[in-house]
Amino acid sequence: MALEKTLVLLKPCTVQRALIGEVINRFEKKGLRIAGLKMMQLDDAILREHYAHLVERPFFPGLCASMSATPVIALALEGVDAIEVVRQMAGPTNGRKALPGTIRGDYSVSGQQNIVHASDGPETAAAELKRFFKDEEIFDWATPQQVALYASDEI
Ligand code: PPS
Repeated sequence: MALEKTLVLLKPCTVQRALIGEVINRFEKKGLRIAGLKMMQLDDAILREHYAHLVERPFFPGLCASMSATPVIALALEGVDAIEVVRQMAGPTNGRKALPGTIRGDYSVSGQQNIVHASDGPETAAAELKRFFKDEEIFDWATPQQVALYASDEI
């Protein structure tokens, strides 16, 4: 158990479908703390860095086009084991395979237009948070909900 921060991007499909509030609401209701939140337009440079492991894939140009179609919403979310918690909430990449109850399972029928990007491990989360947020854009405000969210030996 560790208190972690993770990066989530609400993809352009989510912005276009007016699902921003609904998806953020699910993370808030779960008990994750919003440590950072902003709208930003992604350009080729940041997309090439963010998806460096996918540049050779045939779908890379389409993925970049879809990720720059509108601004995205970047979120820094914090909680105990937040990286895994958020990945579980997102569900598998392909929305057609994601189970109902997950974000992709409830709102997506696509592997590309799949609502959210979420960091997949501690190293990725650290690199991705740095990529999308300056230090001063991450806020360590104290939440009074903490005692209602966790047992004292969990945090
Ligand atoms: S893979 O193929 O295992 O590397 O795929 P995965 O790691 O699950 O997904 C990586 C990101 O690529 C997007 N993706 C696609 N985009 C367009 N077309 C197709 N066919 C496709 N398949 C995967 C997918 O949405 C993932 O985006 P992120 O932002 O990481 O969620």
